[in-house]
Amino acid sequence: MHERILILDFGSQYTQLIARRVREAHVYCEIHPCTMALADMAAWQPRGIILSGGPSSVQDPDAPMVDKGLFDLGIPVLGICYGLQLMTHLLGGRVAAAEHREYGRALLHIREALGPFLPFAGEQGVQEVWMSHGDRIEALPPGFRVLAASDNSPLAAIGDPARHLYGVQFHLEVVHTPAGSEMLTSFVRGVCGCHGQWTMSSYRETAVAAVRRQVGERKVIAALSGGVDSAVTAVLIHRAIGDQLTCIFVNNGLLRAGEAEKVAAVFANYLKIPLRVVDARSRFLAALAGVTDPEQKRKRIGGLFIEIFEEEAQAIGDADFLAQGTLYPDVIESISFKGPSATIKSHHNVGGLPERMRLQLVEPLRELFKDEVRELGRELGMPEDIIRRQPFPGPGLAIRCLGEVSSPRLEILRRADRIVMDEIREAGLYDRIWQAFAVLLPVRSVGVMGDSRTYDETIALRAVESADGMTADWAHLPYDLLERISSRITNEVQGVNRVVYDISSKPPATIEWE
Ligand code: XMP
Repeated sequence: MHERILILDFGSQYTQLIARRVREAHVYCEIHPCTMALADMAAWQPRGIILSGGPSSVQDPDAPMVDKGLFDLGIPVLGICYGLQLMTHLLGGRVAAAEHREYGRALLHIREALGPFLPFAGEQGVQEVWMSHGDRIEALPPGFRVLAASDNSPLAAIGDPARHLYGVQFHLEVVHTPAGSEMLTSFVRGVCGCHGQWTMSSYRETAVAAVRRQVGERKVIAALSGGVDSAVTAVLIHRAIGDQLTCIFVNNGLLRAGEAEKVAAVFANYLKIPLRVVDARSRFLAALAGVTDPEQKRKRIGGLFIEIFEEEAQAIGDADFLAQGTLYPDVIESISFKGPSATIKSHHNVGGLPERMRLQLVEPLRELFKDEVRELGRELGMPEDIIRRQPFPGPGLAIRCLGEVSSPRLEILRRADRIVMDEIREAGLYDRIWQAFAVLLPVRSVGVMGDSRTYDETIALRAVESADGMTADWAHLPYDLLERISSRITNEVQGVNRVVYDISSKPPATIEWE
């Protein structure tokens, strides 16, 4: 079993970041709700436990609590923000509302280089950290001592080295605490004694063995979308069970220029994995004829996809499993971490299909973050241009072709989009941008070309920076790049006489236009 760290979530917006930082230290970790039973915590056998932050105050009558027996398990604990306050409260210290809410950067003066601060003696003893709290520690619990102070929080970090219990008031998981990763690494490696053996090459072996165990001699089908997640899923499963896997690629006619051919070529020639390519372009076009409502478009595409997939699966016969590229953030989002009352959001990548076809799921990426999936893809010998591919939505160009989706309009969009991609790549920005693409607007405006008047449609250019797609900022592309894109589109793509740049962030806008 991997050495592992248990992260208990108290509802902080940063909990996922804690997990990412621990993984970056090459230590496996999982996030579980703070309501996890004490016996389950012990049975999980963590090397250490991290208590996340959270929006509550320990004084609130309905503040989320944790079983106090956690501190007697003999397992090292690190409390962050609310986690620290809760630990203090439960172990006999005092927490009270601070006179000034502390939010933003603060200077931390480290007094004792212990626990998370092992590497921070001498000149390293003053560190910039990120604070965000209303309550603060007023009195230490018995056995604890002060490890660090900031101007507003004299007890900004505390510890009881004998029991391996530590707490920090600031958020060491965010980038605004520049040495935060080192502090977290010091806790998981130095205090908890983890060796940092969680690597994608070790994961590959474990995952391959797990797929073999789960599937046995039976058959699996996988739908490829052209994206990274489904491709890595398929390659990993193929590594495990070879030709018991059948990969299906539905060409829905809603892909970017050259994508369908590229996916087919990579699988056939490079990865040597047989692929059933289904040409369903005309069926999708027919299903979308006359449809302009975004939700209707998504529903029709999803419905038709299921229909075609079922037909193909029947043609293959007796498959028991469906492969799915579910990632850890999807798993986290679909479980409630804020106690029993929180709303549960569920994710279905291939909505409804498994139940309808009575298929069990094989989800070998369920424990991984996106960057880990890319690393795993490299371990599996996949080509870089698939691994580094920008995300692309399932409904494809249909939700970037505003108004009616017709063959001529898709062609205009595809040509414009290809220019956007070429220029973004040429400028060396492809890897730095989360997504860049063209959107075709059903808006006509007047233009002039040569001596004649035009009355053509508009391309909106969208480029965003994002860490996970949940929030995004519009990318500040250089003017000369925008100029080249605009001039190439209006010159080379017939039917477009105007290009606009979308300068909306998410929220309040979304990344896609539909
Ligand atoms: P939005 O537009 O909601 O998109 O800001 C966030 C991210 O999700 C992608 N996206 C989808 N991916 N099926 C997918 O597989 C979909 O229906 C879908 N809709 C949006 C979008 O490209 C962005 O990366």
